[in-house]
Amino acid sequence: MLIMSGKEVAQEVRSEVRLSCERFKADTGHTPCLAVILVGDDPASMTYVFSKGRSCDEMGFDHRDYRLPADTAQQTLLTLIGTLNEDRAVDGILVQLPLPPHIDERIIISSIDPEKDVDGLHPVSMGRLMLGEPSFIPCTPGGVLRMLDHYSLETVGKSVVVVGRSNIVGKPMAALLMQKGRDATVTVCHSRSMNLKAHTLRADILIAAIGKPLAITADMVAPNAVVIDVGINRIADASRKSGYRLVGDVDYDSVSPLSSAITPVPGGVGVMTIAMLMENTLLAAKRHITRR
Ligand SMILES: NC(=O)c1ccc[n+]([C@@H]2O[C@H](COP(=O)([O-])OP(=O)(O)OC[C@H]3O[C@@H](n4cnc5c(N)ncnc54)[C@H](OP(=O)(O)O)[C@@H]3O)[C@@H](O)[C@H]2O)c1
Repeated sequence: MLIMSGKEVAQEVRSEVRLSCERFKADTGHTPCLAVILVGDDPASMTYVFSKGRSCDEMGFDHRDYRLPADTAQQTLLTLIGTLNEDRAVDGILVQLPLPPHIDERIIISSIDPEKDVDGLHPVSMGRLMLGEPSFIPCTPGGVLRMLDHYSLETVGKSVVVVGRSNIVGKPMAALLMQKGRDATVTVCHSRSMNLKAHTLRADILIAAIGKPLAITADMVAPNAVVIDVGINRIADASRKSGYRLVGDVDYDSVSPLSSAITPVPGGVGVMTIAMLMENTLLAAKRHITRR
């Protein structure tokens, strides 16, 4: 059984981006720049935003961090995004999700210039992705593809079952895998799917993006399946100083012995996301330079 290390693959992506960024800066005199907007003080979001800034530093990018109070008006956020859209020094704009309930996420995401949509969540990016046209690939599904490629796990002709249909993970994941070149036969399951197990048992590659700790158990997985666990869930653990530990959507201990390859949590897909954001930011900078 192969344990697919997100740490190892993310490190490879980061090294490639760092090198490519050095060459890009030398050739063009332009430094890629990511603007990250955080509204409110959700501790998990603050940690993610901090990590994104630190990763930009490591890559040799500029970054601008905007911390707005939780009661920021939607219009104030739209005005800031409008300014960043026009700013030629800024290549990528990322609004940290989730936003406070009084702000409409769809309106905010749609207001980002699609050419700066490094999170790949704008309707134009999603539409391009669906059509198989070049687009910014949402970072988490992009990270999953990168891990499959790194470990030479073929998707052509395979039965892939994606559990979860969120706009951030499940939907783009399914759309990417069905494209020509990836050529998987994709089934998407969700909370209304009847007899989930009948579907998951048919998977050569099972991708869990549910947000329910340890929901995929050994009886739901076919022998020798490749199992990708996107879930990141906190469960109480009195033995830890923090009082909790992170687990995936897959019951790793029971599923791993029967799978041919599996991603751990933590240290699996989770660490890929920021690496793919860095790749998208460099890609945005390269596209902007060619258009100037
Ligand atoms: N960096 C990363 O690695 C990364 C990034 C994003 C998310 N995540 C993690 O991935 C997980 C999913 O995130 P998300 O944003 O996609 O979550 P989400 O928006 O809550 O979507 C969860 C999906 O799972 C489905 N679902 C819920 N319960 C189910 C059940 N019992 N059986 C089958 N399907 C079920 C839901 O179905 P309905 O559509 O019917 O409600 C929904 O489509 C979370 O643990 C999250 O923390 C990790």
